[in-house]
Amino acid sequence: MQQTKMIAVVTGANRGLGLETARQLASRGLHVILTARNPRTGAEALGRLQTEKLAVELRKLDVNSTEDAQALARYIKEAHGRVDVLVNNAGILPESSRDAGAKSANPLKVSPLTVMEIFNTNTLGAVRLIQALAPLMPEGARIVNVSSGMGALNDTGGGYLGYRISKAALNMVTRMFAAELAPRGILVNSVCPGWVRTDMGGTGASRSIEKGVETIVWLASAPEATESGFFWRDRRKIPW
Ligand SMILES: NC(=O)c1ccc[n+]([C@@H]2O[C@H](COP(=O)([O-])OP(=O)(O)OC[C@H]3O[C@@H](n4cnc5c(N)ncnc54)[C@H](OP(=O)(O)O)[C@@H]3O)[C@@H](O)[C@H]2O)c1
Repeated sequence: MQQTKMIAVVTGANRGLGLETARQLASRGLHVILTARNPRTGAEALGRLQTEKLAVELRKLDVNSTEDAQALARYIKEAHGRVDVLVNNAGILPESSRDAGAKSANPLKVSPLTVMEIFNTNTLGAVRLIQALAPLMPEGARIVNVSSGMGALNDTGGGYLGYRISKAALNMVTRMFAAELAPRGILVNSVCPGWVRTDMGGTGASRSIEKGVETIVWLASAPEATESGFFWRDRRKIPW
């Protein structure tokens, strides 16, 4: 099989940070496999990047589905033979500050089922993709887990129990797979994009989407980004 471009996979690539990450990786010459759980919004995102003449394709992937992750791996093995970059970006934040019910941001009110739902997507979603795609990764491949400062143990405020747990656990996923995959020369890092103006971050957030993806793209593709097993923001290591 003829292999020219590096192959990147981005989860939750139909909007927000995932879409911009896909755009920027493709602009840097990678072949990007956009993944989205909703084929319609995925196709819209694909169309936008194709009009920019970028090398992209779309595969359906719900990160809550082990079957989807395995089907993606089978497809990539057949079509491309390898994965050089995996950006675990898909995430949810259903806890609402205004809602005192099951999805409350109040740790004393939020339903454990909501916490499990968040953990399943934000933490186990990344685990599913790493387990499925790591066998296809060559030496030098990179895994970037899009985490959050809200998961940093050293800086924990109140509120958003499920989201904070899920991102703290995602950081442990980063540490564990960095160790597991070090013998194969695969780099695994966590990144906090900052507070970004996406659907999740809201219009009042302090950062543009372009600024938000800067360190994600850097960890995924920059030749000088060669460290593994760290938590980053603005291209600097931050405490766990
Ligand atoms: N925005 C911020 O301020 C901020 C700060 C720190 C960390 N982050 C993290 O950055 C990442 C991207 O956030 P964003 O701001 O771009 O959020 P967003 O605009 O809400 O986009 C979230 C993306 O994740 C996808 N997604 C959710 N559940 C999924 C599932 N089960 N399977 C596949 N895709 C799924 C969504 O797909 P649908 O369109 O189908 O829902 C969407 O594409 C998240 O991990 C988030 O926690 C964001």
